[in-house]
Amino acid sequence: MTTDKNNATIKIAVFASGAGSNARKLIEHFNSTISSPLSKGIEVALVVSNKIDAGVLQIAAEFQIPTLIIEKEKFFRGNGYVDELKQSGIDFVVLAGFLWKIPSTLVQAYAGAMVNIHPALLPKYGGKGMYGNFVHEAVIANKEPESGITIHMVDEVFDNGAHLFQATCPVLADDTPATLAQRIHQLEHAHYPRVVEETIRKTGKA
Ligand code: GRF
Repeated sequence: MTTDKNNATIKIAVFASGAGSNARKLIEHFNSTISSPLSKGIEVALVVSNKIDAGVLQIAAEFQIPTLIIEKEKFFRGNGYVDELKQSGIDFVVLAGFLWKIPSTLVQAYAGAMVNIHPALLPKYGGKGMYGNFVHEAVIANKEPESGITIHMVDEVFDNGAHLFQATCPVLADDTPATLAQRIHQLEHAHYPRVVEETIRKTGKA
């Protein structure tokens, strides 16, 4: 990793509330890459969670990545932990199964530098309450022939920002929310790190 000021490493904070399988893929992708002299290094420098027992924290420990546990009151009524993120030198925020809505202060502080992954083909099956198994249950109940993933920029409305990438998979007649979730996770793991990297490099920062 390069360290001089003009070619400093781009630092990502990954926000996650759960198991963190996407966080693991992001960490494996970025933190094991030797930066080329032609492009800046990118690393996951911080893992942020709202849950003290979230699986993602064990993954962070495994890779010796600093963690930040956030509190509801401060997140929503304070300034959304912008000061802490800036103090840690965070350039880009990646949401990976983070269940709280991002407050305006934080969205604005990282405008154009915050992305999310949603386990369905937005604009369908998005918005408040549409997360995790609720998404897959609704997709199956509506007998959708296909589902997929959407990677998008984050703005102040749930699941609303500009789409960066979508990929589809079939919904099978005997799918349960669990089997569909597994297929969706495979798509997420295959595409999220690459799309995050392309997005960061397109912003001109890296
Ligand atoms: C993923 O399906 C993601 O799309 C959704 O939450 C899930 C997180 O899974 N937003 P994991 O914690 O990364 O395994």
